[in-house]
Amino acid sequence: MDTEQIKERVGSRAVDDYVTSGMKIGLGTGSTAVWAVRRLGELLAKGALKDILAVPTSSQTIMECQDLGIPLRSVNDPEVSGELDLTIDGADEVDSSLFCTKGGGGALLIEKIVAYSSKRFIIVIDENKIVSNLGLKFPVPVEVVREARVPATKAMEHLGARVEVRMALKKMGPVITDNGNIILDIRFDGPIDPMEMEQELNHIPGVVENGLFTRIKPIVLVGTTSGKVQRYTSDEIPKSE
Ligand code: 5RP
Repeated sequence: MDTEQIKERVGSRAVDDYVTSGMKIGLGTGSTAVWAVRRLGELLAKGALKDILAVPTSSQTIMECQDLGIPLRSVNDPEVSGELDLTIDGADEVDSSLFCTKGGGGALLIEKIVAYSSKRFIIVIDENKIVSNLGLKFPVPVEVVREARVPATKAMEHLGARVEVRMALKKMGPVITDNGNIILDIRFDGPIDPMEMEQELNHIPGVVENGLFTRIKPIVLVGTTSGKVQRYTSDEIPKSE
């Protein structure tokens, strides 16, 4: 199977295995999570699923849901009231403790609000996302208010990070998130403690949120080239780099 087929398989599987009618669900962002959104749209259109309330995590997901006719809510709406049954989302890296890094698509702030408001968090990835240590290969994205760019950069360098402002590709200047902030992508030269680092980063003035997700234990579905989807909970994920 090629990468796109793997993403489709694992994204769809999350919906087939975990979503039932009447649920309030968070819908993630990215090229894998979008397949969960599409599968949900398909099952709603067929009538195989009913009465779903979906909370999107980005402009990408809002547009996809609108095109598919998936009913959208905010996590603040009274029917949702800050509590979701489950969220399905992608990740950039997952380690052997099932801690993960998210935010490659720049949506980490709303993704974290939605994930941390969910009873269950389902991560959908391909096997290339499994790493021994977070933040060495793929950067940890940190959403920062624009005015804090330089002092926040210095504070992160103090924590041992190499910091880069994420630049836009089809616009001059930095990426501006859905929330009007910039993203600092930070890399480390050696292993970090993800739980500690998640907290440390958020103590820096001007940091709105960071892409380390350590305070919710996900169920991780891993799509493989053979077409199989492996499922990991707690510490069962294979160690590799
Ligand atoms: C967006 C995210 C994505 O879930 C993450 O970047 C993975 O995306 P993809 O499935 O396209 O590799 O966190 O902010």
